[in-house]
Amino acid sequence: MTTPLHETTLASKPSGDVLAIRGGRPLHGRVDVKGAKNLATKAMVATLLGETVSTLRDVPDLSDVAVVRSLLEVHGVRVTEGDEPGALVFDPSDVESAHFEEIDAHAGASRIPILFCGPLLHRLGQAFIPDLGGCRIGDRPIDFHLDALRKFGAVVEKLPSGIRLSAPNGLKGANIHLPYPSVGATEQVLLTAVRAQGQTELRNAAIEPEIMDLIAVLQKMGAIISYEPNRVILIEGVDKLRGYDHRSIFDRNEAASWACAALATDGEIFVGGARQQEMLTFLNVFRKAGGWFDVREDGILFRRDGALKPVIVETDVHPGFMTDWQQPLVVALTQAHGRSVVHETVYENRMGFTDALVKMGADIVVHPHGLQDGPRRVARRELEQAAVITGPTPLHGADIVVPDLRGGYSHVIAALTATGESRVSGIDILSRGYEKFLDKLTALGADFDVIG
Ligand code: EPZ
Repeated sequence: MTTPLHETTLASKPSGDVLAIRGGRPLHGRVDVKGAKNLATKAMVATLLGETVSTLRDVPDLSDVAVVRSLLEVHGVRVTEGDEPGALVFDPSDVESAHFEEIDAHAGASRIPILFCGPLLHRLGQAFIPDLGGCRIGDRPIDFHLDALRKFGAVVEKLPSGIRLSAPNGLKGANIHLPYPSVGATEQVLLTAVRAQGQTELRNAAIEPEIMDLIAVLQKMGAIISYEPNRVILIEGVDKLRGYDHRSIFDRNEAASWACAALATDGEIFVGGARQQEMLTFLNVFRKAGGWFDVREDGILFRRDGALKPVIVETDVHPGFMTDWQQPLVVALTQAHGRSVVHETVYENRMGFTDALVKMGADIVVHPHGLQDGPRRVARRELEQAAVITGPTPLHGADIVVPDLRGGYSHVIAALTATGESRVSGIDILSRGYEKFLDKLTALGADFDVIG
């Protein structure tokens, strides 16, 4: 088996958690994004529902993927390398329940384990899900998930160490109306309903491209799922499902991150694998902020188009501006001529990363309760926050700590934008969402050393 590139990278640079970054140089070059972290991990869970082997292609080499792989293996799924780089093969023929200590040891800092509930209840009649990890960008409740599972007929018992579920009478189709178009809760319903007895009607569903790609995976397995207007999804339960062969949608979040890096550092980055259709809203905002892009067959070229301009952006569920895109954009907006507003409406604590930018010289004021503004696509929620960014402000190097995945990426881009040296610690978090991150920085001409 060939050594994954990230291992050779660590071989060429000492493995570690602290980067010394010397900024002020534009990033130039090409990066290739693989499959979406937020699809591949869910499609891996779906293999539990099939009675035959599944193959997933373009699986990114990320720690979130490794967590799901080891959880599948402790439940008896055999996972092997596929017939091309980035392909994994899943054989679920020997699924049996795992032991708590094994599960807990593998749950890691991920939220994906909650999606094992439906498939394990179908396969084993029971499941134990340890407390979840994931980015600290809010309290990340799972009430929508548990309410939906109870509607399917699951018995949910909350324990100090996690939740135990059983389905004494099997799982039956249900009518579920989500209070908010939650991505995870939508996936929970899809992964449970496809093999429940009878029909499920899901209202106010999330419809992100990753959700639609998961529906495509389930349909390949034999599921009957129809996507109706106005966020309604109908699922007709079937008795059994087979394996699938699927190539994951590309990672929109990583593509948007590198585009913002080109904007912030005044560089030029070609993102191989990026597609226009799934990034329309991002591309509009990128252009309004003074970016220039060229859509090609195999990716999108991103760079600045003169001075950066201020924008007013509100994060939203799809097809709005994704909450995962706002952190790297904010770094670029510190260099825009004027006052920008970024309104975070999805998570209650996703502006913490701006503290480090202020330390580096940015002028950012976070309003903890958002800003009163005009009519909204989504109903206002009490958890909103808004950042007002006034630029351009020169950024200078500083010692900063990575707070979460997307915030951490923004810290690195800010350090690359700043003049002077920055020490960025907690870099390991980035391995959850950015494959071969250090290789890509090197390919783009970034000047850095791994020092700790
Ligand atoms: C997914 O998180 C993604 N993670 C997130 O990406 C992404 O930001 C988010 O969707 C929104 O697009 C994965 O797919 C692994 P939600 P998820 O359920 O499913 C509230 C990244 O960087 N809520 O749509 O957890 C919740 O608190 C990550 O890749 C409840 O109140 O997001 C939040 O305010 C970060 N109760 C809102 O809904 C629930 O039971 C949206 O959350 C579930 C969610």
